[in-house]
Parts: sequence; structure tokens; C-alpha cells
Amino acid sequence: MSKSRAKACPERSRRIIIFTCNWNAYSGLEMAGYERLSLPAGVRPIKVMCLGRLHPGLVLKAFELGADGVLMVGCPPGECRYEFGNSRAEDLFKETRALAHLLGIGEERLRLDWVAAGDGKAFTEKVRCFVEDVGVDTRL
Ligand code: FES
Repeated sequence: MSKSRAKACPERSRRIIIFTCNWNAYSGLEMAGYERLSLPAGVRPIKVMCLGRLHPGLVLKAFELGADGVLMVGCPPGECRYEFGNSRAEDLFKETRALAHLLGIGEERLRLDWVAAGDGKAFTEKVRCFVEDVGVDTRL
């Protein structure tokens, strides 16, 4: 491929949806911004009150609309603002991953993780690792 052709067809960034809960996880995202830690291109955070409020249909809709990966980030075990939301999120995650598998969506494209309140560095690192692990061909 000629050099000019390569410039005309740049590699697109991955499209990653991050569902964060409104509490520990979102404060991690806010702290990442405060500390000027950059997230990879193509990352779109969506805040929900608690990960336990997510529905498998909503997560799968993100894939239907073209997401390369979906990362769900909530409060660490025992720290959910609503007591059992993150354990509910684990059940939802398992259910969603099983449905995604039936649809041919690789399990590396969906992840559940936790971030302690205000830990911007951990939030950024978890997002970066996920984006690298998504492992889809992102070229146009
Ligand atoms: S409030 Fe964070 S997981 Fe429930």
C-alpha cells in the first residue's frame, strides 16, 4: 500500500462503551480527568446509578449499535451504595455474557470490573487494558 493510501485510510479507534455506576467507579473516572490521565480514543462512558440497575438488553444493544467492547465498572464488593447492586451486577454479567456468546460475541469483548472511590489511576489502567484486550480488527 502506498504511503498516501495509508494516510487516506487511517486505522479507526475501537468503539468502547463503559458503563460506570454513579459512585465509586464514576469518581474514579472523575479523578482520572482531574489528574489529566487520558483514556484511549473511542471510549464512551455512560453513567448509571448502580451497575445492578443494568439490563442485559441494554448491554447487548451497545454491541448491536457497533460497540467493539463493553466494560462494566462498579464499586468493589461490599462497597455498593445500594448494598447488593454489585453482586446483582455479577449475575447480570454472567447472563449477558452467555447471551453474547450465543450471538457470536467473543467473551473478551465484555468485562466486569471494580474501581475504588477516586482511584483515577486504576480506572484508567483498567480501561486501557480492556481496550488492548478487545482484540478486534479495527481497520476500516
Ligand atoms: S453503586 Fe456502585 S455498583 Fe452499586
